[in-house]
Amino acid sequence: MEPHGTLTRLRERLDEAVHDGEARAAAKQHAKGKLTARERIGRLLDPGSFAELDALARGTLGYGDGVVTGHGTIDGRPVCVFSQDFTVSGGSLGEVYGQKICKVMDLAMRTGSPIIGINEGAGARIQEGVVSLGLYGEIFRRNIRASGVIPQISLIMGACAGGHVYSPALTDFTIMVDEASHMFVTGPDVIKTVTGEDVTFEDLGGARVHNSRSGNAHYLAHDEDDALDYARALLSYLPRNNLDEPPYSGLEADLELSAGDLALDTLLPGSPNQPYDMHTVIAALLDGGEFLEVQALFAPNIVVGFGRVEDQPVGVVANQPLRLAGTLDIDASEKAARFVRTCDAFNIPVLTLVDVPGFLPGTEQEWNGIIRRGAKLLYAYGEATVPLVTVITRKAYGGAYDVMGSKHLGADVNLAWSTAQIAVMGAQGAVNLLHRKRLAAVDHPDALRAELVREYEDTLATPYLAAERGYVDAVIAPSETRREVTRALRLLRGKRDTLPPKKHGNIPL
Ligand code: HXC
Repeated sequence: MEPHGTLTRLRERLDEAVHDGEARAAAKQHAKGKLTARERIGRLLDPGSFAELDALARGTLGYGDGVVTGHGTIDGRPVCVFSQDFTVSGGSLGEVYGQKICKVMDLAMRTGSPIIGINEGAGARIQEGVVSLGLYGEIFRRNIRASGVIPQISLIMGACAGGHVYSPALTDFTIMVDEASHMFVTGPDVIKTVTGEDVTFEDLGGARVHNSRSGNAHYLAHDEDDALDYARALLSYLPRNNLDEPPYSGLEADLELSAGDLALDTLLPGSPNQPYDMHTVIAALLDGGEFLEVQALFAPNIVVGFGRVEDQPVGVVANQPLRLAGTLDIDASEKAARFVRTCDAFNIPVLTLVDVPGFLPGTEQEWNGIIRRGAKLLYAYGEATVPLVTVITRKAYGGAYDVMGSKHLGADVNLAWSTAQIAVMGAQGAVNLLHRKRLAAVDHPDALRAELVREYEDTLATPYLAAERGYVDAVIAPSETRREVTRALRLLRGKRDTLPPKKHGNIPL
């Protein structure tokens, strides 16, 4: 018999605050094929590791106020988490709700732990007016202060409007669920009133749109479990915070050339104009061929994502000859720049694979600011202090040669395959420009052009002029890449580099 009855009173209170609310939420969410806020946390964290905070905090809408917060572990590593409950006033943000999120964010910062936000909500709670707006501001400021200090991951599990999209936008990664999650600043009704446009939720802010078109999302999950798995996978490559190293076991790789290594010697097609899939190269270099791609559907002419070399996490940035011939355009530049900066913030070496014919030409690109926006990628590489290893597989033409992790921007180890063509431009363009008069003067310009192209490819479009000046450290057979990249990364574990003291740089935005 319990002497003071306190445990009974506690149980009753928790029943009211947690269990009753959870039962109501489950009925509503399950009917829509969705998980509740607590179920999502349960599936994200290691089983039994969740410690809830402020379950007994009371807001205008009763206990909890529509958000669940706390901490737990993922693969045994501590994380902080909040998860919004759409069944309480559409998941809209009220005073206590906002205060709970701020509190768990502060805890994440104080303990140097990643914060994961599971979002489903209608933005500012209309009834709480400016208090709600103020708390959004508090959350945004915390997102900003935490940026580059602790990893911040946002999952969008349902409709997210207003402030519920700006907080995710300030975090490192945003994950959306196909056909189930939406993000917009103003919804279809307001758009119809203001601009007269008719647009559906899905077309306006569906997971596909944000993954492929706006670039606001980093992963298109096929369901909620897939989204939660992706968040766990991302964290496996990230350190706990910026003063920590990404997790790795110190395992030594076998550097004998494998069948996979040797296959790279015959990967490249006969003609420089024929594409090949850069994913094949990426898979050959990473442990077990495992690659966690980020923003796979956005700007697919550049591929970014995480993998491991000798168990050490690396960020991969690679031109993709299969899309737009691997050219750099605005979207590709911004995608890669953000990724390089993410790696740099979190002590993850960057492995760059180069096959780039240049920037994408066109008025659309120029008028939309390829100069300013392409410069972001230059900036990102130029300010990075993490280990940078670059491999040129084939083309490295013009400005794009400089941009893609060149020695000149500060890369530590630069390798070129024997097939590399490092030049101001491709052979056809160069020959037409240099020999215009000669070609115009002959009866059969095609034969002469072919001869001049051959000559250009043999003399200027090779890796050897760069090697003679040390712009590349070694010219290698493709099959030697994994071995040389591994050796480089071993050496670079000791790298220490700092930027000159400044308040912050002024990256073109
Ligand atoms: C209070 C809200 C609410 C809100 C919805 N509800 N939005 N309550 N404040 N902002 C309530 C509804 O009245 C309803 O209550 C319940 O939540 C579910 O909403 P439904 O509309 O029935 O759900 P659904 O059809 O699924 O549509 C979800 C939605 C829509 C797309 C999110 O509710 C919506 O568009 N809401 C308004 C979004 C918005 O404009 N927010 C303010 C943004 S300004 P009952 O009792 O019927 O269940 C903002 C500023 C922040 O956020 C600063 C930014 C920089």
